[in-house]
Amino acid sequence: MKVTFPKDFMWGAATSGVQTEGNFEKTNKSIWDYWFETEPERFWGGISSAEVCETYQRYEEDVRLMKEIGMNSFRTSIQWSRLIKNFETGEIDEQAVRFYNQYIDAMIANGVEPMINLYHFDMPIELQEQYGGFESKIVVDKFVEYAVACFQLFGDRVKYWATFNEPIVPVEGGYLYDFHYPAKKDGKLAVQVAYNTMLAHAKTVQAFRGLQLEAEIGTILNLTPTYTCDEQPHNKLAAEYADLFFNRSFLDPMVKGEFPAELVSILRALHALPEYTEAEIEIILNAPLDFIGVNYYVPRRVRARTTAYELDYFTPEMFFEYYIEEGARFNPFRDNNEIKPVAIYDIAQNIQHNYGNIKWFLSEIGIAMDLESEGAPIDGVVDDSFRIALLEEHLVQLAKAMEAGANCFGVHNWTFIDCWSWLNSFKRRYGFYRLDLETKNRIPKKSGQWLKSIVENQGFEYNDK
Ligand code: FCB
Repeated sequence: MKVTFPKDFMWGAATSGVQTEGNFEKTNKSIWDYWFETEPERFWGGISSAEVCETYQRYEEDVRLMKEIGMNSFRTSIQWSRLIKNFETGEIDEQAVRFYNQYIDAMIANGVEPMINLYHFDMPIELQEQYGGFESKIVVDKFVEYAVACFQLFGDRVKYWATFNEPIVPVEGGYLYDFHYPAKKDGKLAVQVAYNTMLAHAKTVQAFRGLQLEAEIGTILNLTPTYTCDEQPHNKLAAEYADLFFNRSFLDPMVKGEFPAELVSILRALHALPEYTEAEIEIILNAPLDFIGVNYYVPRRVRARTTAYELDYFTPEMFFEYYIEEGARFNPFRDNNEIKPVAIYDIAQNIQHNYGNIKWFLSEIGIAMDLESEGAPIDGVVDDSFRIALLEEHLVQLAKAMEAGANCFGVHNWTFIDCWSWLNSFKRRYGFYRLDLETKNRIPKKSGQWLKSIVENQGFEYNDK
C-alpha cells in the first residue's frame, strides 16, 4: 500500500544548539558546560557538550547535507548563553548574532525552513547560580528579554518559533529525578519551576504577538501517552494521574487555557501549589498558540502502586508505578525502550478531540541505535534499515490519523547528524548522518536517502507483513 502525505508537508530533522554547536567563541556557559566541569563522571564516555558536531564551524557543509537528503525544514535552538553576553545589561554577543544570521540565511538559501526554538534545557549557569534559574521570576523576565532580542534579530526571516522544548524535562531532571543540573530533589520547588516556566512561555508569546511579525509561535511538548495494564478502576486512575502530571500539566494551560482542576487539588492537598498572582494566571491562560510540536519516543506504562512510596519528597510516582507490559516489543538496541507505533495515532486523536484539533507537527520521532548495531559503513553508507523500518511503522500510524482528520503539518526526525545527548552523551545514535567522533566527519546513513525518496514521492510504499 502507498502511504501518502500532503504535498507541502514539512520534512526534516531536529536538534538543539548545545547538542551540536560546540563552544567556539562562546563567552558564557550553560548549566551543561558547568556540570561537566564539576561532575564529568556523570556523562557517558566522559564526553562533554563541547565535543559535539562543531556546527559553529561547519554549518555551511551541514546545510548542504540537509539539502542533499531532501530536508525542507530544520529545528535547532539559539543558545541563551551564547546570544547574551551580559545578563545584567542584556548586552548581545555580536559573534553569536553573526553565526545565527549566517546559519539561518544558509538554510533559507538552500530551501530549508528554519524553525527556531528558544530554550532547549540550557539555562545559563550564571542565572542558575545567582537566582536559581527558573526557580526565580527574575529569570522569567530575563528570558522574555532574551526572547524578544531573538525575535528582533531574526524574526524577519524565521517564520516558525518555539518557546521551549519539552518544558517538563528540566523540571523532572533538575528537581525530581537527578538527571539535569541543579539535580535537586524537591517536589514543591519542581512545581514552582514548572509554573515559572509556563509564565516565561506565556509572557514570551505575549511579547511575540506585540511585535506583529509575519511568523508563527508554538511550543514543543513530549506528549507521551499513558497506558495501563487492564480495565480496573484503580489502574485506570493511576494512568490518569500520570497523564495529569506529565502531559496535561503543560498542555492544558498552553492549549486549552485552563489548569486541570484535579491537578490543582492534588497540589493543594500536598501543600505544593506555587507562588502565583492572579495577574500571572491571567497571562498564562491567555496565550494562544499557532501550533504545537509533539515529541514521541516511547509509551508510558503505569498502574496503581503495589508497593509503598518510599521517597521523603513528593514526586508524581506517589500516585502510580511503572511496569513492563508482558508481550510488548522492545528496541534491542536501546535498553528497555518499548516500541509502540500506535501511540502516534493515539496522540493525534487526543489532540484532535480534546485540544480543538490545533495545528501540530511531529517535532521529534527518533529511533535509537548504537554504533555497534549500526555497524561500519558499506560503500560509504551506514545501513540503518532497522531505523527505517520503525520510522515507517510510526508514519503509517500518522497517515492513518491524518486520514481521520489530524491537523498535522510535518515530521522531524531526531536527529540530523548524530549529536550529543545530555548525560547519555553519544551513547545512542539517532541521526540521518553518522558523526565520526574522531574526525568529526559526517557519514551518510540509508535513512537519509529514505527521507529524500519520501519527500520526492510524497510518501512510501509500505509492505504490511
Ligand atoms: C529528547 C530531547 C532531545 C534528545 C532526545 C534523544 O527528549 O528533546 O534533546 O536528547 O530526547
